[in-house]
Amino acid sequence: MALKDLLRVADLGLADLRHLLDLSDELRSEPYRYHDLLRGDTVITYFAKPSTRTRLSFGSAIARLGGTPEVVGPTELQLGRGETIEDTARVVSRYARAFVIRTFADDEVCRFADAASIPVVNALTDLHHPCQALADLLTLRNHFGQLDGLKLAYVGDGNNVAHSLLEACALTGMDIAVASPAGFEPDAAIREAAEKLAAASGSEIVVTHDPFAAVRDADAVYTDVWLSMGDDEAERSHRIAALTPFRVTPELLAAASGRCVFMHCLPAHRGEEVAAEVIDGPHSVVLDQAENRMHTAQALLLALLRGELRGA
Ligand code: CP
Ligand code: NVA
Repeated sequence: MALKDLLRVADLGLADLRHLLDLSDELRSEPYRYHDLLRGDTVITYFAKPSTRTRLSFGSAIARLGGTPEVVGPTELQLGRGETIEDTARVVSRYARAFVIRTFADDEVCRFADAASIPVVNALTDLHHPCQALADLLTLRNHFGQLDGLKLAYVGDGNNVAHSLLEACALTGMDIAVASPAGFEPDAAIREAAEKLAAASGSEIVVTHDPFAAVRDADAVYTDVWLSMGDDEAERSHRIAALTPFRVTPELLAAASGRCVFMHCLPAHRGEEVAAEVIDGPHSVVLDQAENRMHTAQALLLALLRGELRGA
């Protein structure tokens, strides 16, 4: 049975991941090769939270596959007036070829996928951001030539992006160290799922409160915002106080491997989670990551629609 949906990185097998990265590279050089795939059809993209990269990269990816992106949010759909997720999922399955969804609770995306007969893609929830991790792996593979033997250090809030990176590194066998302040560590259940993958791949997972220990020998230093969409604004000052020692500064980057790249999913806040000299400096690959969102989105839709993924 082919994998129908992508809800989290751990849904994929290693062969699936390799296939998606290879396909992304193929699509980078031949973006219109599969332009007949979606001819005359739509893919619905639903955003309950703002988005620049995900919304626009999926729009371009769908167009490159010959389809039309239909972008909607909660205020346009009857979902916002109490229609059930299940009814919505069954109805859109009669119209569109795939459904890409960004929302708050991860459970909503799982319910959507269970009820829909078309592929459902998690475009970010409070727990996962698998599409971002795919683009990040592609960026690293293209920069270093391979993923084997690499170490990524994630420094900051143990959030959705950190969770998907934990699963992605553990699946591929890359080492990962996550440095977060007490109270902002990654979710325990997701860490456990990543540990299981790591046991099979040989990846080493370290979770620490020491950013300098985390970046030692790291080939990539990654950070993300301190307040994610959906986090309580009232917590802002507490978060800033706790996370300031975890800012990625030139000094922190200098403590990593000499060939280290700086990564961020964007949007970024210069002077908060990252110093401007770092994100705008020579080690930064953030624009490659952003571009790779489009190639990986196109590869993911293509592979799901052609039933090419086997799953974990
Ligand atoms: N990185 C990312 O998902 O960006 P957007 O929130 O702009 O989609
Ligand atoms: N952690 C961030 C990622 C944005 C792409 C958020 O959820 O807001």
